[in-house]
Amino acid sequence: MSSDDYFNLASVEGMANSLNRKWQVYPNDVIPLWLASPDFRIAPEIKEALHHAVDAEDLYYNSDDPTREAMAEKIVRVNGQEVTSDDVMISQGVEPLLWLAVMHACKEGDEVVMPNPMYNGFVHVMEGLNTKPVYWDLDYEDGYRFDEERLKEIVNKDTKLLCLCNPHNPAGRVMTREELKAVADIAVDNQIKVFMDELWEDIRFDGREQVTLATLNPEIEDLTATSWGVSKTFGVAGLYLGYMATTNKEMLADFKHEAHSLQRGSSTLARAAAPVMLDETLDWYRRDLITQLTKVRDICYKRLNEISGASFPVVEGTYVPFPKFDYGMTSEELHEYLIKEAKVALNPGSNFGPGGEGHMRICFATSEEIMNETMDRMERALSKLA
Ligand SMILES: Cc1ncc(COP(=O)(O)O)c(C=O)c1O
Repeated sequence: MSSDDYFNLASVEGMANSLNRKWQVYPNDVIPLWLASPDFRIAPEIKEALHHAVDAEDLYYNSDDPTREAMAEKIVRVNGQEVTSDDVMISQGVEPLLWLAVMHACKEGDEVVMPNPMYNGFVHVMEGLNTKPVYWDLDYEDGYRFDEERLKEIVNKDTKLLCLCNPHNPAGRVMTREELKAVADIAVDNQIKVFMDELWEDIRFDGREQVTLATLNPEIEDLTATSWGVSKTFGVAGLYLGYMATTNKEMLADFKHEAHSLQRGSSTLARAAAPVMLDETLDWYRRDLITQLTKVRDICYKRLNEISGASFPVVEGTYVPFPKFDYGMTSEELHEYLIKEAKVALNPGSNFGPGGEGHMRICFATSEEIMNETMDRMERALSKLA
């Protein structure tokens, strides 16, 4: 099979019966680009590993030691953090780790700093655990730069946790080494714990460098828990496989204590497929994925920037950026309008914190055909508003 067969064959008609939840929420004539879930084929090596586990009836209780070892090896090789399997915890996707991080660092009413806009999973955790979100505002017009002066202004003695994701959903930024150094300095000076979510680490464009915050110096490493996963790179969110590492023994013990009985690592099937997703076997998939995403990102960039009232940012990482729409509508109103008039479903910006108004999140992990069709539809519908 060629690379196109894995990444570029999806059509609107062909996806109508897809089991991907993204395609099931709206009627068949609506193109759904709201959920961060790709329209790509699963790598054959992952399917083979899953078949093999079923054939071997590997569905019993079994040890997660080999998977944690593979995770530790990957973290040392790719992220450059010197960890062992004893520093690694497996989870059912990244989402539960956010909860554990807040439960570890905070009590009710404590302040948690996070960027605005921010992936909505983080916003939900703050509400669920009655902590106080304090927003580190990022400006679209300023290229969503992580401004260290702003961060200094909002941290204080009640700040117990700083939550970040890098690459950033939905700002589409990959934090520079300088931005990360500033975060490290502020966290260390104020002794604030950091939860750094690197779930999107593979999705970077134009040679942007991924720097793992915890590798900057031993002081920030001691304050940081880092999470990773496989859902965004390989389109396997349904395997529910995430992991975190920290060399802070107390922090890891507390995460495990909080998780005890509530979550039990991940399934044997997820663990069966883990080795090929953690070693270099699927480097071909990672490479071809970026080639495809670059093509589709560039279609979005060209087409949306040609539409009066719309603007598509430079996307450095992730496939879920946050274009801006100036039509005097709330993002919910525009969402409804686009479903009705364009038959396109995006994700309203207001779901991503108070900084999201005026924006819509779009998932461009699809074929060129679907993206061109989406842009044709949006162009027709939005031209009536300009
Ligand atoms: C930054 C970020 N973290 C966590 C998640 C949740 O990931 P998972 O489904 O693998 O738990 C997402 C999903 O889009 C995300 O964008």
